[in-house]
Amino acid sequence: MAADLSPIEKAKFAASKRAVDFVTDGMKVGLGTGSTAAWMVRCLADRVREEGLKLTCVATSTRTADLARSLGLTVVALEEARWLDLTIDGADEADGQLSLIKGGGAALLQEKIVATASDRMIVIADAAKQVHALGAFPLPVEVIPFGWIATARLIEEHLAAQDVLGHDIRLRMNGDRPLRTDENNYILDLHLKRIGNPRALALMLNQIAGVVENGLFIDICDTLVLGHPDGRVEVIADDGARSEGRVDIAASANIFSDLGD
Ligand code: 5RP
Repeated sequence: MAADLSPIEKAKFAASKRAVDFVTDGMKVGLGTGSTAAWMVRCLADRVREEGLKLTCVATSTRTADLARSLGLTVVALEEARWLDLTIDGADEADGQLSLIKGGGAALLQEKIVATASDRMIVIADAAKQVHALGAFPLPVEVIPFGWIATARLIEEHLAAQDVLGHDIRLRMNGDRPLRTDENNYILDLHLKRIGNPRALALMLNQIAGVVENGLFIDICDTLVLGHPDGRVEVIADDGARSEGRVDIAASANIFSDLGD
């Protein structure tokens, strides 16, 4: 039941429910990855069931593809869809310019490819993800396993010239082995504490051999939808325009009963 959800899950749900209002019949929709995106997939599947929308979806991870298909959504490869109307995804942090850190769920590469192959990207998050400056959340960087220690060393050397506070780099593990992404790469988490110039950092990282992609999303997000535990939702556009609304969380009992509670 909705009452059993933690405050943060309620906030994620509220943002997700509001964001799927932007989806219209016939759209090709990119589906993000993570716990907030999973709520969005459930809300979208609910609209498809209730309203008979015809959508073509592209997932940003095998996890999301499996969830979407299990709920009856049509999921195709990006190669088949070619271009998308809209992508809705979560984020680890978002700043005032709608620059993001993503990749906490290790899906940043497919997420960036799908988002940049879309006319519009909407980011959904609980309001605590909005920050003044990016960097408290460790920045994920996807690297080729071959020579990853040399790649990490080069990143560390180049960080010295960047406006960041921390320099600690850690290989993300899955138990006692390095975590593998859907593309079979590794993730390095950069503990930078504060990123003064995200654009310069993103450019630097992608010039290093062995780096596949970094988790900074700059000039990609068009709209940020922030949810609060009481159902309040803020919609912030990249031109700074803001609006506010409310989602009736208790009225969505059908989605929660799908979860088996
Ligand atoms: C996955 C991501 C996620 O969108 C990000 O980690 C947020 O996840 P959550 O909604 O579970 O907090 O970038 O790679």
